[in-house]
Amino acid sequence: MYKVLEKKSLTPKAFIIEIEAPHLTKAGPGQFAVIQRTLESERIPLSILETTDKGAKFLVEVRGRSTLELEVRLNESREIAYVEGPAGVPFEVKNYGRVLLLSKNWGIAPIINVGRALSECGNKISAIHVGDTSENVYLINELESFSGSVRVFTEDGSVEEGNVQLAFRDYIDCAGKPDLVVCAGNNLDSSLVVDVCREEGISVVSMVNTYMLDTIGLCLVCRLLVNDEQKLACVDGPWFNGLEVNWDYLLARENLYEDEEKQALEKFLKQLEREKLRSRR
Ligand code: FES
Repeated sequence: MYKVLEKKSLTPKAFIIEIEAPHLTKAGPGQFAVIQRTLESERIPLSILETTDKGAKFLVEVRGRSTLELEVRLNESREIAYVEGPAGVPFEVKNYGRVLLLSKNWGIAPIINVGRALSECGNKISAIHVGDTSENVYLINELESFSGSVRVFTEDGSVEEGNVQLAFRDYIDCAGKPDLVVCAGNNLDSSLVVDVCREEGISVVSMVNTYMLDTIGLCLVCRLLVNDEQKLACVDGPWFNGLEVNWDYLLARENLYEDEEKQALEKFLKQLEREKLRSRR
């Protein structure tokens, strides 16, 4: 069993956990881990927010059954049955020059992890974070701690209204073209960012989001096409040259298990309701 050393709420939708897992302390920038709350639980790939001297911290955004289970059950028991990693290929950290970080929702966690390493390597960092709503705006202070400028938007206008693509175009108009764009958090937004980068001749590294089952390269669920070759997000990624990713293929596979996910969430919500009723008796 792995101890959860800290669980801190950020917004009603998001929280941070620190897990005691010595094998994660040396994880590279942009890597992820796979956690299972119990051995019967789903495996959840989570981007590492930062490594600590005892393990690693993760941002968890409640988006479906498994993340809701974590939110609810970790309040009852601060233990995780299984923690695997670090997984994936670390981000290539070197001096690119002026780097613009673009994050959507939970994508701010891997962006902070990578951005901090890029800043320590001498890059000049600017950042833009976009949330669906203000409940997806968090960790801005961390982003500011290594960035020369940070702008925050929400799509519903609860903070300054904006979306990733418009904010990116506005950045280019005001500050000129960066040497590198790094984006994470949402495949559709990343694909639109890549369109702008292609038009403007800007290099871009994107984190891809895929379903992941075994995370060791056997199930092929996380496959994508990069330069017309099949790659696996779990072992070859999750960071790729955005200009080489076939985004249409990736987006077409994005909702493969949508129905199953909906059913699993409904079932879990019913279970929570039953537990609530039972506890009142
Ligand atoms: S998660 Fe199974 S091959 Fe990547």
